[in-house]
Amino acid sequence: MLDYQAPPTLLAGKCILITGATAGIGRTAALTFAAHGAQLVLLGRDPLKLRQLCEEIGASGALLPRYGVLDLATASQATTRACIAALALTRLDGLLLNAGVLGTLGPLAELDEQEWQRVLQVNVSANLWLIQTCLPLLQQAPQASLLLTSSGVGKRGRAGWGSYAISKFATEGMMQVLADELAGTGVRVNAINPGATRTAMRAAAKPDEDPLTLRTPAELMPLYLYLMGQHSLGLTGQSWDAQSK
Ligand SMILES: NC(=O)c1ccc[n+]([C@@H]2O[C@H](COP(=O)([O-])OP(=O)(O)OC[C@H]3O[C@@H](n4cnc5c(N)ncnc54)[C@H](OP(=O)(O)O)[C@@H]3O)[C@@H](O)[C@H]2O)c1
Repeated sequence: MLDYQAPPTLLAGKCILITGATAGIGRTAALTFAAHGAQLVLLGRDPLKLRQLCEEIGASGALLPRYGVLDLATASQATTRACIAALALTRLDGLLLNAGVLGTLGPLAELDEQEWQRVLQVNVSANLWLIQTCLPLLQQAPQASLLLTSSGVGKRGRAGWGSYAISKFATEGMMQVLADELAGTGVRVNAINPGATRTAMRAAAKPDEDPLTLRTPAELMPLYLYLMGQHSLGLTGQSWDAQSK
């Protein structure tokens, strides 16, 4: 699907919210979706980085995004609702749940309790609060796309990937349950596994790896566009490997 060629106006008229928009894959998704006409709502934990990204997108000639500050490590159901309410959104056609943390890698036998809680909070619980909060707006859209972000270690467990791997199994489960609950509605729900990608997270996981051997976030964008745009209508409940051969 990386050979998908998106029309330049694929996302025109669509309002899309992205988490983890200030770095890595999320940042590239923000620039790419905006360049394809989307009105963006960016969520992040750093107001300065968010403001700078909004300015960069606005300066490119794309629609100026709006942004909300939400630290997913401490977000509760109530604070998530308050953050989204403050944005006063009137429509939402897409939700890209991209933010994530790696946590400390190592055997499960040595997993630190606070690290476990932090990774599960950011990678799983905060996404559930966001889904619950955004679902009413997504259901009002004529056709909506909800994308969660998985990982290869969320489909086949691997020694040493600890709470991160388990959180991504939970992400796959959340996608499947939600897709089943929303079957027959206008909201499609899918998961993307980016695969090894040249970002800070990958560098932290594999410090000895040469990043130049990895695909860049930009190279993955055809699949992100495909799943967010009209050509994936009707596809739901699937887990997509961005870099499958
Ligand atoms: N890169 C890979 O090889 C790879 C492979 C498989 C899956 N993935 C998944 O792809 C997604 C994006 O990963 P990436 O490689 O782009 O990672 P990244 O470069 O580390 O970016 C992670 C993003 O998540 C945000 N984030 C982290 N903790 C947060 C918190 N407490 N509150 C709000 N935002 C927070 C970061 O915000 P800041 O900008 O403020 O730091 C950043 O924008 C993740 O879900 C990851 O698990 C990546």
